[in-house]
Amino acid sequence: MQTEAIRIHRHGGPEVLQMDRVDLPDPAPGQALVRNTAIGVNYADIYEREGDHGGPHSAKPMPVTMGHMAAGVVEALGPDTAGPAVGTRVGYIGPNSYAGHTVMPAARLFPLPEALSDEVAGAYLLRGLTAEYLVRRLYPLGPGKTALVHAAAGGMGLLLGQWGALLGARMIGTAGSPEKAELALQFGYSDVIDYNAQDFVQPVLDLTGGVGPDVIYDGVGRATFRRSLDCIRPRGMVISYGTASGNVGEFDLQLLHSKSIVVTRPTLRSWISDPDEAAAAARATFEALTAGRIVTPIGATLPLARAAEAHRMMESRTTTAPIVLIP
Ligand SMILES: NC(=O)c1ccc[n+]([C@@H]2O[C@H](COP(=O)([O-])OP(=O)(O)OC[C@H]3O[C@@H](n4cnc5c(N)ncnc54)[C@H](OP(=O)(O)O)[C@@H]3O)[C@@H](O)[C@H]2O)c1
Repeated sequence: MQTEAIRIHRHGGPEVLQMDRVDLPDPAPGQALVRNTAIGVNYADIYEREGDHGGPHSAKPMPVTMGHMAAGVVEALGPDTAGPAVGTRVGYIGPNSYAGHTVMPAARLFPLPEALSDEVAGAYLLRGLTAEYLVRRLYPLGPGKTALVHAAAGGMGLLLGQWGALLGARMIGTAGSPEKAELALQFGYSDVIDYNAQDFVQPVLDLTGGVGPDVIYDGVGRATFRRSLDCIRPRGMVISYGTASGNVGEFDLQLLHSKSIVVTRPTLRSWISDPDEAAAAARATFEALTAGRIVTPIGATLPLARAAEAHRMMESRTTTAPIVLIP
């Protein structure tokens, strides 16, 4: 069959995203054909478009179909394939999702609970699974813990603030404007610092009795990482989980010495590579997203053909809630 797909034929700005018609093979044994209904736009898509193949994102031969996740409906299964039945609503984390249809390993599909709409799953499945390992497994948050989250009003930030607060932790945020800071205060944060108006280190120390937070979730990277080391508490953990402002680059390990700081640079894929772990993570994420205690706003819903506009919006730092593309 043929499907529409947003592909790149070279790396570059949003203008390299183009709509093509592509041939899609029938699903082989072990595979499923998914008709995508809501495609999440994530920062990883921007890294891939730019050709920033650090960490888990290895270079692929051109042309590359964009995307890392979607929600949709199973339309066909490969021969002798066990998996969610045809007609099941599913979500997945996997490549080639900026398309009308995508072929995925059937075992990697997550059947969606009825209470989770396609749009919310498209916007929050990848972010939800990421928040799950960040606040429950990599650094378990709970009463008595204080966390600092950079870009608190972004897609990940809105989720981390709410989930961390739900677990009983004190959540402090940074955000790039007074409006964003105001918004984040409605999503679990007790205090939010506008880090474009002032350096965040002293305010964070002031808010934590001069000690610093127990953990810092840093999805911003270059612009915040070094200063995060200056305000983490002794033996605290700095989690560099994203690089929206650019890669952190090399840094001197000795910077960790005086406070015994733990630094990690995780990726979702290694936290859901084991199928049992992935299933447990999905259960916890779906429970969190559907229990009514975490609000999941959608920033914009655009036709797939307007993917370039979605990327421009995200890169302009004007977005807060996530954007979803509809084929
Ligand atoms: N490691 C993982 O497993 C994993 C999984 C999912 C996502 N992530 C990471 O999580 C982070 C957030 O992802 P998201 O998709 O939800 O994006 P987002 O937070 O909605 O957008 C990124 C935010 O970063 C801030 N930012 C600071 N400097 C920036 C710059 N120079 N250019 C653009 N933005 C800048 C902006 O907020 P302010 O204006 O408030 O500064 C912007 O809104 C990304 O770094 C992404 O790679 C990591």
